[in-house]
Amino acid sequence: MRYLFLVLFSCLLQYSKAQTSTTNFQDFTLTTTIDSDGKFNYSLYYKNKPVIYPAKIGFELNKPKMVLNEFILVSIDSNEINNTWKPIWGEEDEIKNNYKQLIFHLKDKKDSEILLDIEFRLFSDGIGFRSMFPKQKNLTHFIIGNELTEFKMSGDHKAFWIPGDYDTNEYSYNTTKLSAIESIVAAGKEKDIAVVSLIGPTSVQTPLMMKSQNGLYINIHEAALIDYPVMNLTLNKQDFVFTTALVPDPVGNKAYLETPARTPWRTILVSDVAADLLSSKTILNLNEPSSVQNTDWIKPQKFMGVWWEMHIGKATWQKEGGKHGATTANAKRYIDFAAAHKIDGVLVEGWNKGWEDWFGNWKENVYDFVTPYPDYNIQEVSNYAKEKGVNLIMHHETAGAVTNYERRLDTAYKFMLSNNIYTVKTGYVGKIIPRGEHHDGQWMVNHFNRVAEKTAQYQIMLEAHESVHPTGLHRTYPNWMANEAARGAEFNNAPSLGITPEHNTILPFTRLMGGPMDYTPGLFHFKLNQFDSTRTQVVRSTLAKQLALYVTMYSPLQMLADLPENYEKHLDAFQFIKDVPVDWSATKIIEAEPGDYITIARRAKNSKDWFMGSITDENERISTIRFDFLEANKKYEATIYKDGPNADYINNPSAYIIEKKQIDTSSTLNIRLAKGGGYAISIKQK
Ligand code: NOJ
Ligand code: CA
Repeated sequence: MRYLFLVLFSCLLQYSKAQTSTTNFQDFTLTTTIDSDGKFNYSLYYKNKPVIYPAKIGFELNKPKMVLNEFILVSIDSNEINNTWKPIWGEEDEIKNNYKQLIFHLKDKKDSEILLDIEFRLFSDGIGFRSMFPKQKNLTHFIIGNELTEFKMSGDHKAFWIPGDYDTNEYSYNTTKLSAIESIVAAGKEKDIAVVSLIGPTSVQTPLMMKSQNGLYINIHEAALIDYPVMNLTLNKQDFVFTTALVPDPVGNKAYLETPARTPWRTILVSDVAADLLSSKTILNLNEPSSVQNTDWIKPQKFMGVWWEMHIGKATWQKEGGKHGATTANAKRYIDFAAAHKIDGVLVEGWNKGWEDWFGNWKENVYDFVTPYPDYNIQEVSNYAKEKGVNLIMHHETAGAVTNYERRLDTAYKFMLSNNIYTVKTGYVGKIIPRGEHHDGQWMVNHFNRVAEKTAQYQIMLEAHESVHPTGLHRTYPNWMANEAARGAEFNNAPSLGITPEHNTILPFTRLMGGPMDYTPGLFHFKLNQFDSTRTQVVRSTLAKQLALYVTMYSPLQMLADLPENYEKHLDAFQFIKDVPVDWSATKIIEAEPGDYITIARRAKNSKDWFMGSITDENERISTIRFDFLEANKKYEATIYKDGPNADYINNPSAYIIEKKQIDTSSTLNIRLAKGGGYAISIKQK
């Protein structure tokens, strides 16, 4: 193949003439051009509709000081790969990996002799491309000043966006045309995010979801974010060109690299059916296989937490003040409830010394991760949990003091193992130390990946809050099971914007494209003034929708966010949460429209039983389900948990109905979803 391209290009190889190559794969046409100035452009069409108009790829280097954006084509390699692989846990038993690969070997057109390879992979539902700096004579250690990669959109698309930011991805989503993106204005409405570092008025974050006027759903993100900062995108509203905005370090540099080096994959997923984007595995396919050899110890789990009671004012993280949540007795209460209902784990937050002045002081030595408060007997609690068959989940809030955490990682993980604790939730609330670093810079990206590797060495499962956005690295580190990295359910408790009913219909198209989210569904009590009558915050969802989220918001670690006493009031509905699995053999996206609704059916791992979840935004709707995904000639019993006739998220969120129906592959059901509502179904084969 390489020979053929060389021939083609030698025919075209005349300075001052553009060199063009066109590749078709499935519904995509990728065209690359090196124009007469040496600028490298790529454009992308899907079913003959434009996705990306010619857009440039290049770099500004701070060391050596130069712009690398004019090239000579040396050669092209091409290849096609077609195989399948089995994830250790996930939404499917098996994942198909079929792509066409093209590598453009380029050389700086000026006199530096620097070599750059640009690799494209075309899949059936999108493409990935990355820049690679091979080992070479004239470039060893170098510093990225800016990445000049562009995405030129073909029109003023509808976009689902959050403001570009170096430290947080916890914003509420905005839905506007590209031309109406106003990031600083949108961020100005947010009052409840701990650390905000805005980039500019037209900067947004990835995964960025768009819908074009001619019906294409387009998603831009990145895959395999390793040793490089997070990519944000800055829009030029005149020509709809997004340019890469990398997160800087304290002196303004973006990445310190040594050849051979490469950027993460830049991904563009495309479909004319919104539901199909939700089943894309392209981002996972662009990540490397598991680096963990023996993975038997990695287990998807459901867990409760001594947690929400701190958020809603029943208890506190700190011991001082007389309302400490993480006492031995209270932890045992949660363990008892988890054991009685066969919930795998219990997270205990506020167990360790340090919470008195943990936030807002940019203090380095906050916690030591091994010293419990005197009213929390960790050995007693861990023995109790073991007796009851419940896994304890450790909490390592770092308060952003990451140097402190790094120094103590080994001690902290050994302490966990000595207390039979095999899962950790980390947190990074606050400004980062090393001071001047951002949550999403290269240094922190490396920290998160180091923690994933180190926890794997200790056979510890990991989930991180306030982390960088996921990019499919859970394929490489299957013990790094979930992240927050977006506005999670805890923002129901935030006084300013809270969680809108449409939020959960957007997240799967945005944040979840990169990997599972610890969203923490399962709130059963909607007025958050249970323990303090002055509070006005409410959960803007019906109870049935909270059940549906266990299916629509995929994660191998699913929290049961609410308090045992709130579940006890609705044990019939709680049954769905008890039954719903966290690992799947098959997934069908039945219907979906970002911002409006999502309906998903999943088959439990190694089982014939299915579970469905359907959610809507602030509008009522009827969802029509054909059960043609069920096995033919088999009978099933469906238990349907749906909104009551008078339910809606404002006036009557906890009205639900549970009914049983006999169904088979020829059945059709019409189910009404209330405003801000949903339904969940468990389907058992008879
Ligand atoms: C923010 C996290 O998202 C939340 O889950 C946690 O309870 C607090 N930080 C305290 O660590
Ligand atoms: Ca909507």
